[in-house]
Amino acid sequence: MSASLLDLVIRNARAATASDVFDTDIGIKDGRIVQLGRDLPRGSREIDAKGRVVTPGGVDAHCHLDQPSPPPVRMADDFDTGTISAVCGGTTTVIPFAAQQKGGSLRAAVEDYHRRADGIAHVDYAFHLIVSDPTPEVLNAELPALIREGYTSFKAYMTYDDLKLDDGQILDVLDVAKRHGAIAMLHAENSDCIEWLTQRLEAMGRSAPRFHAHSRPMLVEREATHRAIALAELVDVPILIVHVSGREAIEQIRWGRAHGLNIFAETCPQYLFLTAEDLGIDDSYHGAKCVCSPPPRDKANQEVIWNGLRDGLFSVFSSDHAPFKFDGPGGKHPNGEEVAFRHIPNGIPGLETRMPLLYSEGVLKGRISLEKFVELTATGPAKTYGIHPRKGAICIGADADLVIWDERELTIRNSALHHAVDYTPYEGMRLGAWPAFTLLRGEVLWDGTSCVGPRNQGRFIAAGRPSILPPAHLAAA
Ligand code: URP
Ligand code: ZN
Ligand code: ZN
Repeated sequence: MSASLLDLVIRNARAATASDVFDTDIGIKDGRIVQLGRDLPRGSREIDAKGRVVTPGGVDAHCHLDQPSPPPVRMADDFDTGTISAVCGGTTTVIPFAAQQKGGSLRAAVEDYHRRADGIAHVDYAFHLIVSDPTPEVLNAELPALIREGYTSFKAYMTYDDLKLDDGQILDVLDVAKRHGAIAMLHAENSDCIEWLTQRLEAMGRSAPRFHAHSRPMLVEREATHRAIALAELVDVPILIVHVSGREAIEQIRWGRAHGLNIFAETCPQYLFLTAEDLGIDDSYHGAKCVCSPPPRDKANQEVIWNGLRDGLFSVFSSDHAPFKFDGPGGKHPNGEEVAFRHIPNGIPGLETRMPLLYSEGVLKGRISLEKFVELTATGPAKTYGIHPRKGAICIGADADLVIWDERELTIRNSALHHAVDYTPYEGMRLGAWPAFTLLRGEVLWDGTSCVGPRNQGRFIAAGRPSILPPAHLAAA
């Protein structure tokens, strides 16, 4: 290959994949990785990585952007602010949710969601579906067609009145996943237990944010996780349990696996770096900033999550970025009013901090290897949701979505983040690394201090059959 053929060469990279760490130059042409090796010919542009770690761009496979919410709640981030925030934190692909409204069509939700993303996303994106109303039309026509068109994952909720499905409906949805080659994600919390506990807390006047955690103890997650596993066993289909918060759900997943079931699992930064105390040790309203579901647990559960990250229980580490302002319209403190915990929008921001937090607290503190970091933040999610090896990989032919890491001390400040949320739950945390460069398809979008690259270049990626599923001919057998 002649020198002029490469658009960009990244020199002296310490490239990390989910299986290896190796020293290499990376040659990029037309947005893809085309050469790996030492002493590559000159490119039109060059970046000297000077022995820095280079990983695949992050794949954040669970984030909520511009997702319609029941009024007056409103998400702060749309595809513009959310994906700029992604870029600055080293994420180059996001997979948010096109959510069906009860009584509405799934197809309409997908079309609406495309309109929201089109032309304003700065990173590539695929969509999960949220199935909230599995009518015969949805099960027999819409879902199979959408799966064929590249929407090969969907989430079902076991709680939240506007979204939850009963067990029979979940079985129907799992059956579609099995027959048409999709992966079902389950939000596992027992809705009736939560409502029963919430009413009792309210009757006792316990409405401060910290009581959100009391209304959703680990047993409600444990029971629903076990039930989700049983439903998957009945249908004989793999599932993925999202945002696992601690020991009791993990025990159920280990139980399922010990019984030969294909149960996959995701966890999120809030279960490593926050505890229930962040929702308040007294009735202070500031704890509303950390209200999310399941709620963060305690230090002992954080250690259980770290173990699960190390030993392969988790294959996906996502932000579950659910961006609600603290002050301001549609947020957690609406018109300055301290609302009861049941009315606080659930979710916290985390798209931009997901990768640096896990790199700093995981890799640099020796809790996980660099290969495991790549598996959890990029390769695992890409495989799980059918976009690997185009995404989540450093290999010939992959999109040149890359992060060059700068190992330096810094402190998280919301004022330095790029989302449209007015706080971060991680304010003041010390980190040991941040992306020095983020590249999307060979273009530098972030240079360590500012967004420099071409904007609005994000493209929709139609997902294929998730590679974690059995091959189609075996699944059909
Ligand atoms: O509290 C959370 N996790 N909010 C986002 C929605 C969801 O269930 O993932
Ligand atoms: Zn959820
Ligand atoms: Zn979520």
